[in-house]
Amino acid sequence: MSVPIEGRVTLKVATSLDGKIALANGKSQWITNALSRQCVHHIRAEHDVIVTGVGTVLSDDPQLNVRGLEGSDQPARAVIDTHGRTPLDAKIFSSAESPCYLFTGPLQAERRADYEARGAVVIECPIQEGRVSLTTVVERLRERGMDAIMIEAGGALAASGLKTGLVTHIEWFRAPIILGGDGLNVIADLGLVEIAQAAHFQRVQSQAAGSDLWESYIYQDTPSCSQDL
Ligand SMILES: NC(=O)c1ccc[n+]([C@@H]2O[C@H](COP(=O)([O-])OP(=O)(O)OC[C@H]3O[C@@H](n4cnc5c(N)ncnc54)[C@H](OP(=O)(O)O)[C@@H]3O)[C@@H](O)[C@H]2O)c1
Repeated sequence: MSVPIEGRVTLKVATSLDGKIALANGKSQWITNALSRQCVHHIRAEHDVIVTGVGTVLSDDPQLNVRGLEGSDQPARAVIDTHGRTPLDAKIFSSAESPCYLFTGPLQAERRADYEARGAVVIECPIQEGRVSLTTVVERLRERGMDAIMIEAGGALAASGLKTGLVTHIEWFRAPIILGGDGLNVIADLGLVEIAQAAHFQRVQSQAAGSDLWESYIYQDTPSCSQDL
């Protein structure tokens, strides 16, 4: 099945076999192997912007740029950070090759100026249910011409992507390790009460990435698998 890259919201996750992204103590580097991570750079290069949450910035301090692909375009980066908790020396601000957007709630003028001095484009948004809404972020990115959006975040933002129905594609890298029930879940609570409420995805690609497995999924509006026995 071929779907145009424009208009995509791709959720990329890298997990253990049992769907964990980190140990209970927060340690997460590296769950998947070097080949999987190389594939992720190719996927990033196909998108206009890589979106993450402040939780990931605080725990991993990622750059979220494309590395190891000569001549590749660099996607923009975006952090969703309601209260301006992103450290001013975060590595995400250090790459001058593409803009870094910071989506926040109302910020003090001084804090905003500090971020702008680091090169960030600060976009203050209304707060809904205590947070910046991911739907608003996607709208604001699309207004700026960024249609192919990739989410690389922890369980909280991944859950928001699914709850809001924004996620159209999933790129799932799975390492053959088990982290156990005390590990961090790849998707935070969704509050479902019926299986029928679960979002359905169709697997469109599955291949080995060394000892890891890389699967690609597309959102399926009218699932047929519930009929399978
Ligand atoms: N294996 C992987 O694929 C992968 C990828 C990335 C991260 N991680 C791991 O994920 C863990 C961090 O998880 P996390 O859940 O804290 O990180 P996250 O999803 O990146 O960030 C969550 C934070 O984003 C902010 N936020 C703002 N608006 C939001 C919205 N609409 N929905 C959800 N969050 C919103 C919230 O903080 P405010 O309320 O302060 O705004 C929230 O606490 C780390 O251990 C990291 O290593 C794993």
